[in-house]
Amino acid sequence: MCGIVGFTGKKPAAPILLEGLARLEYRGYDSAGIAVFKNDKISVKKSCGKLQMLRDLINDGVDFDSTVGIGHTRWATHGKPSDENSHPHRSQSGLFAIVHNGIIENYASLRKTLKKKGYTFLSETDTEVVAHLLEENYTGDFFETVSKTIAMLEGSYALGILCKNNPDEMYAVRKSSPLIVGLSDEGNMVASDIPAILPVTRKICYLNDNEIVHLTADSVEIFDMDKNKIEREVKTVEWDVSAAEKGGYEHFMIKEIMEQPKALRETIAPRIKDGQIHLDGINLTKEQLEKVQRINIIACGSAYHVGVVGKYVIEQMCRIPVFAEIASEFRYADPIIDENSLVIIISQSGETADTLEALRVAKKQGATTLAIVNVVGSSIANEAQHVLYTWAGPEISVATTKAYSTQLALMYLISLDIAQKLGRVDDKYVGKMLSSIEALPEKVEKILKIAPEIEEMAQRYAYLEHAYFLGRNLDYAVALEASLKLKEISYIHSEAYAAGELKHGTISLIETGTFVVGLACTERLVAKTMSNIKEVKARGAEVLLLTCEDYGVHSEEVDHILDIPTTHELLMPSLEVVPLQLLGYYIAKARNCDIDKPRNLAKSVTVE
Ligand code: BG6
Repeated sequence: MCGIVGFTGKKPAAPILLEGLARLEYRGYDSAGIAVFKNDKISVKKSCGKLQMLRDLINDGVDFDSTVGIGHTRWATHGKPSDENSHPHRSQSGLFAIVHNGIIENYASLRKTLKKKGYTFLSETDTEVVAHLLEENYTGDFFETVSKTIAMLEGSYALGILCKNNPDEMYAVRKSSPLIVGLSDEGNMVASDIPAILPVTRKICYLNDNEIVHLTADSVEIFDMDKNKIEREVKTVEWDVSAAEKGGYEHFMIKEIMEQPKALRETIAPRIKDGQIHLDGINLTKEQLEKVQRINIIACGSAYHVGVVGKYVIEQMCRIPVFAEIASEFRYADPIIDENSLVIIISQSGETADTLEALRVAKKQGATTLAIVNVVGSSIANEAQHVLYTWAGPEISVATTKAYSTQLALMYLISLDIAQKLGRVDDKYVGKMLSSIEALPEKVEKILKIAPEIEEMAQRYAYLEHAYFLGRNLDYAVALEASLKLKEISYIHSEAYAAGELKHGTISLIETGTFVVGLACTERLVAKTMSNIKEVKARGAEVLLLTCEDYGVHSEEVDHILDIPTTHELLMPSLEVVPLQLLGYYIAKARNCDIDKPRNLAKSVTVE
């Protein structure tokens, strides 16, 4: 996600801002910019591309002697990567400049109102709306203007704000997007993350949600939304830079596993309003959907596994034939695709070569194409007719977790939207499903609390040579992802198998001590799955079973049991995948594997 840096001090701000932005590069971004004071005006310098482009543009900032400024690295959400969409954004007359991290959910209505008042927009971003709103609300009092403006915003935001009439100070605001304050004799800072502050100071204090901070060279004041001053403890950061980039976690993968509730909230919240589905970026009409005779879901790796979940979910909700396909297979299979096909493409990076080519084949054959993508402005996002973004933020670890989970969430919403438009489900069902989908982040949060138990359990499996994941239907779809998670980061050979299919061959591999993970989270199939578990137990397997508290499985039937909360059957993949991500992670950790960068793998395979 985006990175914010702000400085008010006794030395030039520009070099400090550039160094701070450099420390945030690991978070992933597509453009960068700074705003500093020059000749009593706010000078904004920004460019699409890497930070070096900005450094070259402003000669490393040596020409600016301003001691106050804000900086930003942008991870595109609203609006493609471009110079105009980069931050900082300036208000109409240049009175304000701001940087923003998060999503302003009511930006469209605010933009409409401001346009009517004569404001002209240079970008497609939600952030520029806030800049003009500050100017619209300007009372002559910087603090009052900030306070009045943020009261009108809905969504998540961390803001850094400069005002032309107040060149020695800045305000920053935190609501659901991280913001940290750095304190030093040379000056005071705000930043999205600790690494950006470390070059100046290790003395920090954390802002909480709905707090405003006022910075000058000599003072830091924190206020609540009612402008009551708050005292906040100053802490000293002991982390080194590498640990700081991972937020104190040992690996990006575990950080991203733990970020899933937030990623799910940010992906789901903007798509459900007043009990209705709002899929921005998709406008498939009832008439168009009535012509759809088949749906192909095409992707690679973990994204393909989301497609397998989607097959079961969409067929259950919409009663349309669905085919989950591996992109590298689909593109050469002379596929039966035509204008009556809806093709759903799933890709975190939006650049996977096989998936991009599959999209092109589908388009050429007349299909309606819809992409679920995590990177705004990526090739797949640009070439699909409809695109829906996962707001997971940059995913650094090669093994995907939060992108997979947010892709699942969008798959449910798309399926529900299609089913509703085709009249296959009634409003009561939609309402019930939407509230269950909205409850997923909290349930994932609850499951993440058993991480220590799974870490302890994983020590037993650190020396495995083989592992088998068994499940039926949606449990099988999750078994595919769980098996890939384990093998790609721990290098243990692992297979996922449809539980009912094992007896047709693979059961010959089961012997004393063979490690088997059973997935029994589809209540109506628990008994069937348990009969397959008994078959492997009878041949000496050591079984770890993942099921739900009240599904009636007795612990003596298996060697270890992991109970998770329940939700609607079709949404269970979002919950059962979490302990299995943790299992893979902790087994790989116990084996001292290079978890974030496993051998032979790439985060995005942009070649065939
Ligand atoms: C693999 C990644 O290289 O590509 C997986 O390691 C990913 O995590 C797969 O699922 C597909 O990538 P993408 O970007 O198209 O989702």
